[in-house]
Amino acid sequence: MRLLVTGGAGFIGANFVHATVRERPEVRVTVLDSLTYAGSRESLTPVEDDVRLVQADITDTDVVDALVSEADAVVHFAAETHVDNALADPEPFVRSNVLGTFTVLEAVRRNGIRLHHVSTDEVYGDLALDDPSRFTEATPYNPSSPYSSTKAAADMLVRAWVRSYRVAATISNCSNNYGPYQHVEKFIPRQITNVLTGRRPKLYGAGANVRDWIHVDDHNRAVWRILLDGQAGRTYLIGADGERDNLSVLRSILRLMGRSPDDFDHVIDRAGHDLRYAIDSSLLREELGWRPEHTDFEAGLRDTIDWYRDNESWWRPLKDAVEARYAERER
Ligand code: NAD
Ligand code: DAU
Repeated sequence: MRLLVTGGAGFIGANFVHATVRERPEVRVTVLDSLTYAGSRESLTPVEDDVRLVQADITDTDVVDALVSEADAVVHFAAETHVDNALADPEPFVRSNVLGTFTVLEAVRRNGIRLHHVSTDEVYGDLALDDPSRFTEATPYNPSSPYSSTKAAADMLVRAWVRSYRVAATISNCSNNYGPYQHVEKFIPRQITNVLTGRRPKLYGAGANVRDWIHVDDHNRAVWRILLDGQAGRTYLIGADGERDNLSVLRSILRLMGRSPDDFDHVIDRAGHDLRYAIDSSLLREELGWRPEHTDFEAGLRDTIDWYRDNESWWRPLKDAVEARYAERER
């Protein structure tokens, strides 16, 4: 199989490429990534001999069309992904997430290629903290942020291209990922690298907001299951029953790193901050037999902390600029 992976130099995409090279040597991988601030050539260094990296933008019709015409399938990860950045400047989110997905869809339509579109649980909006329900494939879209609204728009384009043009596409909406190679702007790596650089971790508001954590390798195994055996036109929710509030996640990081439980600062809350995400992944489990393997969150967190300790050269060059941006926001 010749596989085109958009956004393969980002967090989830790079882990996807690593796992594919490791576990599926018969697959020939091409990565299409414009290497924005969030993409890193270094994330692909361990597989550089096995993967072709094309640095280009997913809104570039000619490049996308040429690469899609050489592929048997496309897995589309590329997107602007950070909610705080979207609040500060939504324009790149509309461009990459909406126009970029449109460009990929048109190339896939012209070339008759299978597409898997990677999306987020944030398209469903949020749940109350005491609501017993979880998101399912039937939950109405209700995005809250500039980020999630552009991902929702992209999902809608995919659905329309399936119905109107019979494009063979699947969609997955996953909860919050953690693991190696995640940008230090995101919650877990930010707090780990704050401790490692002598800064105090920063919690938005009271830290009561709940996220449904999943290890990135479990997400990517689900993407492979859907790519191989998912039904075209279907949406699958991916989640590992990992609901935790932000304060408890932060306290776990502090404990695992030998710090006192109160060694952090409360900072100004995120505008429109979604309260809680929770995924019911029964369809994926029942139809495709997927199960998460990383069911011990604390063990996964310990491995992630070790990865950031052991790979300072990967994140250190990014850290000061990210914290300078946050300092503006948190002033
Ligand atoms: P990331 O920000 O770490 O990586 C995104 C990658 O896309 C980067 O390598 C970047 O250079 C590339 N990119 C961005 N705009 C591009 C453009 N216009 N052209 C070409 N490349 C471009 O993101 P991530 O966390 O790895 O997320 C990957 C996908 O998974 C996204 O679609 C995101 O919405 C989705 N997702 C993420 C999570 C999560 O918890 N991180 C959960 C569910 C879904
Ligand atoms: O749910 C899936 C989504 O998860 C993905 O679609 C997004 O691309 C990904 O970024 C992530 O979005 P979140 O907004 O949930 O993740 P983030 O890491 O930014 O924040 C997680 C929680 O932690 C959130 O409630 C905000 C809070 N937070 C975040 C930062 C950066 C803090 O309390 N302090 C922080 O410093």
